[in-house]
Amino acid sequence: MLKRIRPQARTMPLPHALAPSPLTARRSSALKGSIRVPGDKSISHRALIIAALTVGETPISGLLEGEDVINTARAVRALGADVQHMAEGSWRVRGVGVAGFAEPAAPLDFGNSGTGCRLVLGAAAGSPITATFDGDASLRRRPMRRVLDPLERIGARALAAAEGGRLPLTLQGARDPIPIAYELPVASAQLKSAILLAGLAAPGETSVIEREATRDHTERMLRHFGAELRVEPTESRRRRIVLKGQPELMPQPVMVPADPSSAAFPMVAGLLVPGSEVLLTGIMMNPLRTGLFTTLREMGARIETVATRLEGGEDVADLRVRASALRGVEVPAERAPSMIDEYPILAVAAAFAEGETVMRGLKELRVKESDRLTATADLLRANGVDALILGDDLIVQGRGRVRGGGIVRTHMDHRIAMAALVMGLAAERPVGVDDASFIATSFPGFIELMTALGAELR
Ligand code: S3P
Repeated sequence: MLKRIRPQARTMPLPHALAPSPLTARRSSALKGSIRVPGDKSISHRALIIAALTVGETPISGLLEGEDVINTARAVRALGADVQHMAEGSWRVRGVGVAGFAEPAAPLDFGNSGTGCRLVLGAAAGSPITATFDGDASLRRRPMRRVLDPLERIGARALAAAEGGRLPLTLQGARDPIPIAYELPVASAQLKSAILLAGLAAPGETSVIEREATRDHTERMLRHFGAELRVEPTESRRRRIVLKGQPELMPQPVMVPADPSSAAFPMVAGLLVPGSEVLLTGIMMNPLRTGLFTTLREMGARIETVATRLEGGEDVADLRVRASALRGVEVPAERAPSMIDEYPILAVAAAFAEGETVMRGLKELRVKESDRLTATADLLRANGVDALILGDDLIVQGRGRVRGGGIVRTHMDHRIAMAALVMGLAAERPVGVDDASFIATSFPGFIELMTALGAELR
């Protein structure tokens, strides 16, 4: 039986301001300039965690220094890795080897980050230690059962957890991890990654089957560090990822490319604010992350690929964005995994388009930092846009212009805050957010970068 831990008052200080920090975006004149958004969040978490499982020292450059990733750095340090900050974006991690984590002295606090928490749960499940995982009010609401189920099959145990396996939870890692074959019940790269990271410690082959391909950064990075991993199609047209357990992971330099999910905000701002021309440099173009760019181009967005190159094992591109007249489209459910974090900002673009945009298959949005499906619809409605949730679909009536004038509730969700502010840059009346402080979890410097382009944010 699972012991229930009652959420207690937090003992650790919040990394961001305790007081909400309201912000307002106003109609701006043409946005102009060239910017590089911060490093990719998914890759940054993985670089720290996988480097912590190597033997030796890994240099990382371009690491995202947002609160989510900093919490992961603190967690792997508490688990015994030596993590050093050298200069902006430049870090060094001396790992403890696969299954080599030490028992942390205090609960691990992941703040707002589901990725940090779920990936470290997986990595810790393969070490014979006990650790308590916790986070902020948003993370405490998010489902962890989906991760605990396979980790328990590998041999880890949840000694205590809040209702429904949620945080705070105490995990006892497996003494003798068992390799498993697991078919993902939901399209989740975090879940896939947690299983693969736990499987590192098991002898033999751990395999994960996914119905729809989700971001493959864990697979790429494990290979980069010397693990044997293959991806094969199954009879039923699914993807089976097979990892050979107990590899000796060897340190390798990691260069983190710019985050396409962060680039999405200045990109859409550049499309919506008349006369804009914005160059976004070094954006990661992993095809499992670029669903938004495909969709925006279908809507008539003028997004030009200026240059492409390989950086740190990923394709990156410089993209030039020009203000564009957009039209409504239908976004198929199959595309959702490749743009799962981009629906709030796509919905904003759809509101300024001419015609109806239908976004299908958004069930997973309900369990993000907020219930993002509801929060996105509310964001639009608060600003005079006609939006409807039908089952798992979101339907937005675009009228080419947006009234604005609303105050958007962000529900501790960075992407809702940034999407609302981008809306305000092109709406007729200002758009306010109740709290912009969570933007620092994924996009530190957002306000400064946008202001440098000419955005009116105060
Ligand atoms: C992420 C996977 C996605 C995404 C999140 C980052 C990752 O979550 O929403 O922002 O780095 O693996 P799910 O795996 O829950 O879909």
